[in-house]
This record gives sequence, C-alpha cells and structure tokens, in this order.
Amino acid sequence: MRSHLLNDTTAEHYRRSVTQGVERVAAKLATTERPFTGVTVDALSPLIDRIDLDRPLHDTAAVLDELDEVYLRDAIYFHHPRYLAHLNCPVVIPAVLGEAVLSAVNSSLDTWDQSAGGTLIERKLIDWTNERIGLGPHADGVFTSGGSQSNLQALLLAREEAKTDSLAKLRIFASEVSHFSVKKSAKLLGLGQDAVVSIPVGADKRMQTVALARELERCKNAGLVPMAVVATAGTTDFGSIDPLPEVAELCEQFGVWMHVDAAYGCGLLASLKHRSRIDGIERADSVTVDYHKSFFQPVSSSALLVRDADTLRHATYHADYLNPRRMVQERIPNQVDKSLQTTRRFDALKLWMTLRVMGADGIGQLFDEVCDLAEEGWKLLAADPRFDVVVEPTLSTLVYRYIPAAVTDPAEIDRANLYARKALFASGDAVVAGTKVAGRHYLKFTLLNPETTADDIAAVLDLIAGHAEQYLGESLDRAS
Ligand SMILES: Cc1ncc(COP(=O)(O)O)c(C=O)c1O
Repeated sequence: MRSHLLNDTTAEHYRRSVTQGVERVAAKLATTERPFTGVTVDALSPLIDRIDLDRPLHDTAAVLDELDEVYLRDAIYFHHPRYLAHLNCPVVIPAVLGEAVLSAVNSSLDTWDQSAGGTLIERKLIDWTNERIGLGPHADGVFTSGGSQSNLQALLLAREEAKTDSLAKLRIFASEVSHFSVKKSAKLLGLGQDAVVSIPVGADKRMQTVALARELERCKNAGLVPMAVVATAGTTDFGSIDPLPEVAELCEQFGVWMHVDAAYGCGLLASLKHRSRIDGIERADSVTVDYHKSFFQPVSSSALLVRDADTLRHATYHADYLNPRRMVQERIPNQVDKSLQTTRRFDALKLWMTLRVMGADGIGQLFDEVCDLAEEGWKLLAADPRFDVVVEPTLSTLVYRYIPAAVTDPAEIDRANLYARKALFASGDAVVAGTKVAGRHYLKFTLLNPETTADDIAAVLDLIAGHAEQYLGESLDRAS
C-alpha cells in the first residue's frame, strides 16, 4: 500500500497515474458534443449504488474506466458553449495546472509552518486585488471557500464593529435581489428574524437609494442599529450593479459598514473596457470577490477584502498548538489569524499561475467578451416577438421568458417555460437556468463562456420555443 503514498520513491507512479487521468479528461473534453447527456437520477443511481467501496479495483486504468461510467460520461460540462445556466465559468489552463500542483504539494494555508511561500503568495494576491479595488493602504483580506463564506465573514466583522447592547437591534440592508447568503449569514450570526431589511430595486434591478435612505432613517428613529449595507455588484439573476457611490454616501452619513458583494462583478476589476461600472467599490469597508465566477478559476477561489486590516481581528483566536500569541510579536505570518477556516487549501496558487501566464488583461479581455456577447444576446431577445426580456445586461446574464402568440394565461405561460427548461435539460442540447420575476417563471442565460456565440444563443432560443410549443400543443390535446 505504501506505493500509493506520494513521496520521493513514488514520483514515477505519481507521474503515470496523473497523466492517465489527464489523458482521460482531455479526451473527454475534446469529444464532448453537448454540455450534458441528459442522464436521469434513476438511470445513474444504480450504477453508483452497485459499486462496493470495500472491494477496491487496485488498478488505476480500471478505476478510470469505472469513473467514466459513473461520472465523466454524464457530467455537466461548463466548458461547452451551450452551457448557459449558472454562474460557472469555463476554467483557464494555468489555473488547472495550479490546482494540480497545489493538491500534490498539499500546503495548508493556516500557518506559515505549513505553507511558507504559499502564505506570501496568497498575501501578495490579496494586496494585488486590494490595489485593483482601491481599498487603500491599510487594506487586507483572506482567501475563502466562496462568496457565501466571504459574505458571512464580512457580516461577522460588521456585527462586531457595530455598537449595540442587543443583537436583536441590528439591521442589515440589502436589495430584494441580493444573494440569499446575506439572510443565511444573518441567521448564522444570531441576528433576529427581521434583521435583513429588503430594499426595493427599480426596473433596472438596482437598489433604490431613496428607499435605502428612508429605511436607514426609519431604523434609527425606531432605536434600532444599522449594522451593514450590502450593495451587490453583479446580482445573481440580473448582473445588475447597485449604485455604489450613492450607497457609499449613505453609509458614511449613517455611519454604517458598507459591504460590496462583488462575487460576480469582480471580473470588472480586470476589465479593459468596463471597469468604471464598479466605480465606488473603493469606498467599501469590505468586498467579496469570487475568482471562480468571473476570473475563469476552478472552484474554489474566492476572497474577502477589508479596508481596515485591524477589523480581521474579530476572526482571530490563538491556539497553543497552532498559532500562539507570541507568533504575532515574532511577526510570523499565520493566515489562520484572519480566517474562519483552519486547514485551508492553497487556492491562491491558481490565480497566481493565471496572472503569471496570462496576465490580468487576459482575464479582463475574456470577461469583456462575455459582457459584449450578453449585449448581442439582449438585442436578439429584444427584437424577437416570441420573448419577453427583463433588463439590459450590465454584466453577462439575460433573463427572459417565452411568450406564445396564442396564449394569454400567465400560469400556462409559466408551465410552458418550465417545461421548455426541463425538456432542454433532458435533451442535453443546452443547459439554461430559471428564476422568478414578479412571481412568474423566467429563463436565464448566464454567459461566462467566450466561446459561446450569438448563433448559439439564437439556436438555443429556437430550441426553447420548440419545446414550449410542444408543451402547449400537448396541453391543447389534453384539453380537447
Ligand atoms: C452575488 C452573489 N453573491 C454570493 C454568491 C455565493 O457564492 P458561492 O456560491 O461562491 O458561495 C453568489 C453565488 O451565485 C452570488 O451570485
């Protein structure tokens, strides 16, 4: 069994084994014709159920054959140009190389004595990101597992900085289309049920700052304590960006922590054309960025950035076995002092490899391309009488709904759209997402693949229209 341990004597085994895996994936990527096979849970479950984990195959090639059957063959492939659903990007090769290196060396970023250069690389990337944001000379941050964790930590810091004698009095203000992790965080942080005040958005899906000002005022007058405003720079559904400079003004006026959830919109930090769309982000107290959404990084790759490094002390605990207090005086850089996690992956290496091979402009160019594609998609949808499209994109999402010419019942239109999404998924020809707008079912493209073309968008819209019409035809047959 020792031959499976990665060490000085097994380097050749490691090389062969990983190469075998890489060859399989490369072959799969090269021949994948659709983003999905359309496999069902019922078809796939028995294949996995029948594998006896107590009877190993002892042969890497045989295990890879088996893996093909239970995973690779039917996986959802984000690199395919007709995967248009959630906030999953195709990944860049330097980052995948980083992933291979980081898992083999297996540094843990909690302490210097488990990572050495890894810690310094992560710190440099945090500084780089902070410079792009413009958070100022005292900024700091830490890599996290994802946007949800970054938001949670930001709100933890905001809670600790708020002046109150009761958690029940604390209020967080976020737009009605902000990410659900804000509400989840409030719950995890022990705030009351009404802690998150939902601020309406306009037709452009951006937070209405007049309403924000009113709610902040109301909060103060009621003896409550405004704890944080969460401005979203790239909402999950619409890619809309809240008016950051106006939100910053209000935060300053009311003395409230400003958190910018730029999990999606952070790609603009590298943009060559659209950086100004997130102007105002530099006034935040904290910022969430998900490199695994718009920097073309493999999951996980995310960070929380803060204007004032000192606020990260709210996540600091000293353990004698790991990061005793004396290490602070000795200036030993232990990232665990800033993190909610202890053992932590060296995810930063992926971004490092990306920036060293491609440069930030390379990433920005790819992100600009998907934003431009969304603009083209918007024009297609707006000119197509078969569809209702909700809002012109600021980033790269399009929310729309098929509107059959002969049907006026909104519930029947809902069913036709739901059916179309499911039928498309089952066919594997394309994968699209769905959401609700004003209580009605809509479909969504999240465009993060520069290889997707306007022709792909047009073809998928035709497929959707075809499936919806098929549903309506069958529905008529059922009724008659
Ligand atoms: C705006 C926004 N914030 C936060 C998140 C959560 O990020 P993660 O899935 O990395 O936890 C998402 C995920 O889609 C998001 O769109």
